[in-house]
Amino acid sequence: MSNGATVGIHDLSFATTEFVLPHTALAEYNGTPVGKYHTGIGQRSMSVPAADEDIVTLGASAAAPIVARHGTDGIRTLVFATESSIDQAKAAGVYVHSLLGLPSATRVVELKQACYGATAALQFALGLIHRDPTQKVLVVASDVSKYELDSPGEATQGAAAVAMLVTADPALVRIEDPSGLFTADVMDFWRPNYRDAALVDGQESIGAYLQAVQGTWKDYAEQGGRPLEDFGAFCYHQPFTKMAYKAHRHLLNSAGHDTDEAAVERALGRTTGYNAVIGNSYTASVYLGLAALLDDAEDLDGQAVGFLSYGSGSVAEFFAGTVVPGYREHLRTEAHREAVERRQPIGHDRYRELHEWGFPTDGGDHPTPAGTTGPFRLAGIAGHKRIYEKR
Ligand code: HMG
Repeated sequence: MSNGATVGIHDLSFATTEFVLPHTALAEYNGTPVGKYHTGIGQRSMSVPAADEDIVTLGASAAAPIVARHGTDGIRTLVFATESSIDQAKAAGVYVHSLLGLPSATRVVELKQACYGATAALQFALGLIHRDPTQKVLVVASDVSKYELDSPGEATQGAAAVAMLVTADPALVRIEDPSGLFTADVMDFWRPNYRDAALVDGQESIGAYLQAVQGTWKDYAEQGGRPLEDFGAFCYHQPFTKMAYKAHRHLLNSAGHDTDEAAVERALGRTTGYNAVIGNSYTASVYLGLAALLDDAEDLDGQAVGFLSYGSGSVAEFFAGTVVPGYREHLRTEAHREAVERRQPIGHDRYRELHEWGFPTDGGDHPTPAGTTGPFRLAGIAGHKRIYEKR
């Protein structure tokens, strides 16, 4: 490795929304047997943002505990990954930079490639730190996942942000070379600029994801990566948790391995806890899988973890990490559980109202109805400018 440095994830923190809709409420409304949600797609509930929450407030809430613990020294780059961007020009990370009080000597940029964006951000961060191991990079992955009401995708919505401090000599996970890469021009899921909700061909998207799994693994093996048997667990992108199981079985099959169900459960079961109750958090999803794995009671010191990041359209990457001995002293397990448990359950009517809520586009002054009890809020919009507040 360049500079002889080990590089990776030094700290990881996530935030999610004020509200939660249980899948029982969705099933009751649309007459779907709840087993389709609980068992078929493996989802229990989905995070729903208040009107005054967005990717900026979620991203700042995820990152604030990292800045509180480590300070701002050495952070010279903030990379904000999202596919639910709030501006076509200005990076959402610039608002986060301001809300967190980061130094002006910081480069801030936004990255997009569907759910894959956070992995691109992580890889760029690793490259910067290889160049200068004294620097730290704050990676923020934040999304609000939105499909049309009453569409098949509706049950796979969600919202969350993950913030990661990427450094040399990391305390949590060392990220290794090589990566397996895969890109294919497919129209499985996309969101034209004039639409709030994504368009998706559900079955096509599942097929495209599986094709990408096979492609990334093939490249990973050709690049001299670890054999499958090395890995103690796998963190997959989880648009719904059962997708990780489909993907892993496909990986095992295509690599000529048995799909022993107990072994599949052992490799994945510990990564789904947060995604099953938060829903699809797009860019954050793989790293919510990592948070669940690390926060699990079992000791992972020195274990190899496989990461499979998929973003529709499509780009995917497979890479490996090693859990750093002593990582448990640096976790945020209690805060993560609190972020999930503090959400207020809402009924189906309120969820629909929030789903359809949006600012007028007339350039007037439009304060946002108060909803969030979190540390940051989107107070309104005035003259087409978003106004954020810190509590
Ligand atoms: P659907 O077509 O309504 O559902 O939508 P289905 O009929 O395929 O059923 C789903 C599963 O539930 C099936 O299991 C059924 O058998 C089972 P499977 O055959 O797949 O193993 N089922 C039941 N199980 C127990 N009890 C029952 C019952 N009934 C049925 N009573 C779909 C499902 C995921 C397609 C839909 O929700 C959707 O379109 N979601 C959005 C797209 C998506 O999540 N795609 C995933 C891959 S693409 C990706 O991950 C990228 C993405 O995150 C975007 C990005 O990159 O930016 C989406």
